[in-house]
Amino acid sequence: MYTVNVSSQLLISNNQIQKKIKELASQISRDYQTKLPILLGVLNGSYMLMADLSRVLWRKGFRTFTIEFVGVSSYDKSKTSSRNPIITKDLSIDIAGKDVLIIEDIVDTGWTLKFLKKYLTNKKPRSLKTLVLLSKTGKRETKVSIDYLGFKIEGNKWVEGYGLDTKYTGRGNPDIVEVHP
Ligand code: IMP
Ligand code: MG
Repeated sequence: MYTVNVSSQLLISNNQIQKKIKELASQISRDYQTKLPILLGVLNGSYMLMADLSRVLWRKGFRTFTIEFVGVSSYDKSKTSSRNPIITKDLSIDIAGKDVLIIEDIVDTGWTLKFLKKYLTNKKPRSLKTLVLLSKTGKRETKVSIDYLGFKIEGNKWVEGYGLDTKYTGRGNPDIVEVHP
């Protein structure tokens, strides 16, 4: 079997992630109880979180959400973030007048989420909030607000797993690991 030759270290276990998702789902179902929110996953990194979060919300009895995705990519495909992200897959529904909750895997410099919030604000949603699983604090270049946060990651680690990749692989790992290429 082909394997990727990097060393990695467990950072956040799937158990810890599931516990956090339950907490976040409680907050969301409380805050959106009278609303019909659109959970807008940012591709590709949010796919696993979207699947788990939507199931937990459902089991809690909160079922009035729409699942939608948008693709955003840094312009260059290198590991470092770009200040000029682009839309790689546009929304397929109209969000005007709707309550939109962005579901993002990780915020690093902040440019991607900032760009996306501006892009979506132009589409005139009634409200626009953000849920971010991981916030890396070491390289933030622009201020961007996070309404629901999973975990803070100190320093300047590179992480993969639970949807996050390192140059296109590593997304399937149920845990989040730090990789040392
Ligand atoms: P930002 O624009 O610098 O905030 O970067 C956000 C995007 O860069 C995320 O949506 C990820 O796709 C990617 N990214 C940043 N840090 C990591 C990491 O440690 N692992 C995997 N992807 C990352
Ligand atoms: Mg992302």
